[in-house]
Amino acid sequence: MAKVNVLMIGSGGREHAIVHSLVQSPRVATLYAAPGNAGMSKIAQVVPMDVSNHADVLRFIRDNKIELTVIGPEAPLVAGLSDALRAQGHLVVGASQAAAQLEGSKIFAKNFMAKHNIPTARFHVFDNAKKARDFVLSPEGRRPWVLKADGLAAGKGVIVAKDQNELLLGIKEIMEEQKYGAAGRKVVLEERLSGPEVSLMAFTDGKTILPLPASQDHKRVFNGDKGPNTGGMGAYAPTPFYTQAVKTRTQKEVVERFLQGLQKEKLSFRGIIYFGLMLTQEGPRVLEFNVRLGDPETQAVLPLIASDLYETFRAVARGELGKSRLTLKSGASCTVVMASHGYPGSFHTGFPIAGLAEAEKEGQAVVFHAGTKKTGDVFVTAGGRVLAVTGFGRSLGTAVVRAYQGVKKISFEKAHFRTDIAARALKDPSVSEKLKRMKLRHVNEEALV
Ligand code: AMP
Ligand code: GLY
Repeated sequence: MAKVNVLMIGSGGREHAIVHSLVQSPRVATLYAAPGNAGMSKIAQVVPMDVSNHADVLRFIRDNKIELTVIGPEAPLVAGLSDALRAQGHLVVGASQAAAQLEGSKIFAKNFMAKHNIPTARFHVFDNAKKARDFVLSPEGRRPWVLKADGLAAGKGVIVAKDQNELLLGIKEIMEEQKYGAAGRKVVLEERLSGPEVSLMAFTDGKTILPLPASQDHKRVFNGDKGPNTGGMGAYAPTPFYTQAVKTRTQKEVVERFLQGLQKEKLSFRGIIYFGLMLTQEGPRVLEFNVRLGDPETQAVLPLIASDLYETFRAVARGELGKSRLTLKSGASCTVVMASHGYPGSFHTGFPIAGLAEAEKEGQAVVFHAGTKKTGDVFVTAGGRVLAVTGFGRSLGTAVVRAYQGVKKISFEKAHFRTDIAARALKDPSVSEKLKRMKLRHVNEEALV
């Protein structure tokens, strides 16, 4: 079969994982990553480009005979890049701009769920700070609520409030002081739910939907889910919280209704849908939709796909997912993010990173770069989340140990990482003993106070 050129848009750890899987396909000739990152340059051609300039992307696709473009992050999707490319007849993996509102607007997402009977938290919408405050001060406002800015706020526009004061402060910051700009012109107040959180990602072409193994993110910066929220400090898959019973119910109440909703609303969707689920006592509830792969869940989940990712992406882009097959490896994976000390607040960069090759040497772990840069021959830190190490194994316990063995070999000044990724899912006490014996050195919360 003829080989083709592929373009991947994005520059984070998620995109490194996409590139890592795509280059294994015998169908891929040259893989380009725009704007990419230094860590990908071993396996892809990194193209410095401003991807918000759709004409530049189109020109690149024409000049380099790109057969398929895969869009990683949400911002270009919300900006309509996939529509711009499709309008010129190109094959694209990425939701349309209309469908990207499922992530770009919490109000759009909540209305979609309400309309199509997808279980989610009860909610109220406000476009006026006074009305939102009055609601919070009313008797109903005393129940636990979560405040969400309507628009994209880089994952920060959600306040899981302890009390009414926190909600009032949030309303002031988001709606009046416009901390997240226009994203906070409107807000959603939704009922606070509780239960384990699960990330379910799926390929869809709007007609067929193929879910990937369910995973779990670790959003807080410190062990034991303490400290501020981050972009994600680690993930593992598959998660035992997503039992057969939960899966059956989610498939029926969430996945199928979602697909029917897309069809009823005539929302064109050839890409990836991410269901952020909370498994409550009453059943699974959707907390959020993302119209892209999750980060860092992708670094754990994509390596579990045994079949050719290029073929799946091509089927998604052509609307032929129904004819496609997706096979998975048995076993488990665990991803540990190594971050700069101070993240998600302020941090220093430019520290040399040692041990990258050693971490991957035995083939039991893979390193995905996020915030790194190459200075001469040396990789240095260049972001908050610097890199992620994914370990694999027949059991989750083995995957966890291998991930941390990889982490142990990598060092840079003031590296911070959690030492309890997947701990909630591990039943085997010998794993935590093994981790303890490893004496992982890292900058933890004690060093920060
Ligand atoms: P979101 O971006 O909507 O997923 O919210 C970010 C995080 O806030 C989620 O991963 C949850 O940990 C938390 N969260 C969001 N909505 C709720 C809710 N209704 N009840 C409890 N926690 C929530
Ligand atoms: N890991 C959560 C997200 O990608 O939004």
